[in-house]
Amino acid sequence: MKPSSSLFRKKSVDQILKDAHDADSGLEKVLGVRDLVSLGIAAIVGAGIFSTIGLASYNGGPAVSLLFVFTAIACVFTALSYAQFASTVPVSGSAYTYAYVAFGEFFAWIIGWALILEYAVSNMVVAISWSEYFVSMLSGFGIHIPGYLTMDPGSASEAFSKMQLLGLEALTTSEQFAAAAFEAAPRIAGIPIIFDLPAGIITALVTWLVYLGIKESRTASNLMVVLKIGVVLLVILAGAFYVKPENWTPFAPNGVKGVLSGVAAVFFAFIGFDSISTTAEECKDPQRDMPKAMIYCLIICTVLYVLITLVLTGMVNYKELNVSDPLAFVFEYVGLDFMAGLISVSSVIAITSALLVYQLGQPRIWMTMSRDGLLWKRFSKIHPKYHTPSFATIVTGFVVGIPALFFKMDFFVDLTSVGTFFAFILVCGGVLYLDHSGLSKQSKFKVPYINGKYIVGLLLLVAIWALVQYGQDTLSEWAGFTFMDILEHKVLTIVFWLTWITLSVLSFKYNFSLLPVAGILTNLYLMTELGSSNWFIFMIWLVIGLVIYFSYGYRKSKLAKP
Ligand code: ALA
Repeated sequence: MKPSSSLFRKKSVDQILKDAHDADSGLEKVLGVRDLVSLGIAAIVGAGIFSTIGLASYNGGPAVSLLFVFTAIACVFTALSYAQFASTVPVSGSAYTYAYVAFGEFFAWIIGWALILEYAVSNMVVAISWSEYFVSMLSGFGIHIPGYLTMDPGSASEAFSKMQLLGLEALTTSEQFAAAAFEAAPRIAGIPIIFDLPAGIITALVTWLVYLGIKESRTASNLMVVLKIGVVLLVILAGAFYVKPENWTPFAPNGVKGVLSGVAAVFFAFIGFDSISTTAEECKDPQRDMPKAMIYCLIICTVLYVLITLVLTGMVNYKELNVSDPLAFVFEYVGLDFMAGLISVSSVIAITSALLVYQLGQPRIWMTMSRDGLLWKRFSKIHPKYHTPSFATIVTGFVVGIPALFFKMDFFVDLTSVGTFFAFILVCGGVLYLDHSGLSKQSKFKVPYINGKYIVGLLLLVAIWALVQYGQDTLSEWAGFTFMDILEHKVLTIVFWLTWITLSVLSFKYNFSLLPVAGILTNLYLMTELGSSNWFIFMIWLVIGLVIYFSYGYRKSKLAKP
């Protein structure tokens, strides 16, 4: 292949397939639909449903259950696009590899960089969630770790300031605990020493296991999935007896705004269905099984999530749910301490498996990038004895473990969601490219084609009509904005509408396939709901990535060499 200095130099599908064949990974093709669904659920069901659903329900009330349905629909469009790529380029590397084919190296790097948010940063959330359930489990056994060793310093000092300002009575139980931890913390040079020790320890332990090459075998993964689903079903079935329907009124106490403030948390709970695409090389028949498995995973999780939200918000008033261990909390609340204990113990095991999946995934993405020359060679170094990407695994341990000690969960949830939406949008866009360039001919599975020529534009007109007809509040809010307000708060909304207009024109011109377009628009819409501060942090993240790319990857890329 000729060397290229273009930012958009691409790998061809044939080249990737040849590389994979030459590398002879020796992977066995053993996975069928059931295994894929099991792997998918292992990755999907984690901190989202065990923890962050608490805050989402607190803000949005029972109506958050509907947000789960809407978000699942956006995920289905994306899953179909992933499936098409996985059947065209059935090698590991997921969205990173797909972007290398569709958009070239520059975008591939950006996606690889964004995937760190999906894998490593989401694992910080999972580690913190694990810690919450672990502490709650220990306290069930009468063991109490000092509060200042079980939380992030930010939450503790916030709660303490709130207490000083408003008095102890104004604080929720968990805030009172945090304020007490702040007061009790030992101090060095006046600075309170507060960190989440269990989150750090579990990350270190799981990293160590992954380093040693203890892989989740099919059986182990299946067992853990059974346990996870078991806990969730237990909560739904046992909780159903304690539901008081009056708790469901009002259904959306804080309106649409309240519900949409849960987008990051709800989306977070679905992240992971895409990770099964990384096993494409190990599937018996990826073309047939991958799409089925992704859709099954999404259907199963959506049903479980909707039911669990209804049960949680039916058992206690939504205002009580601002806790990080809601599944155990609700049973404690209704006086079923035994159930609360049982749920805490099984949740600790269930969440560990999610931690393991992502802690395995992250080093392998770095390994792929390093093999392409975009990261330092050490990232693809394989341990001679354990046969694992040892250096990349250790780096992952530090990258996840240290922030998990000191930061608040919500911050990472938002950041993960922005990065993942971004990757999903590019994958949906990539399918349009495959169609347009004729590469789709090599895809053994194709996103079902519905011609978007007129529909995308028509839907845009319908949306504008609905906005004018029913969105008077929104429009009058806009009318009151100054230019600076718009710049500060509404840029994303403008980007969304401009994208829709552009896609309408392009669909008309090129007969774009409707479903990937719908994927781009639904993901982008949800992304705009995340708030500009998250985007701002995401931009900083991208800039750091670009600095690394231009100072290293651009020069060292394999495609830059003869
Ligand atoms: N969906 C994964 C979880 O909820 C990231 O933990």
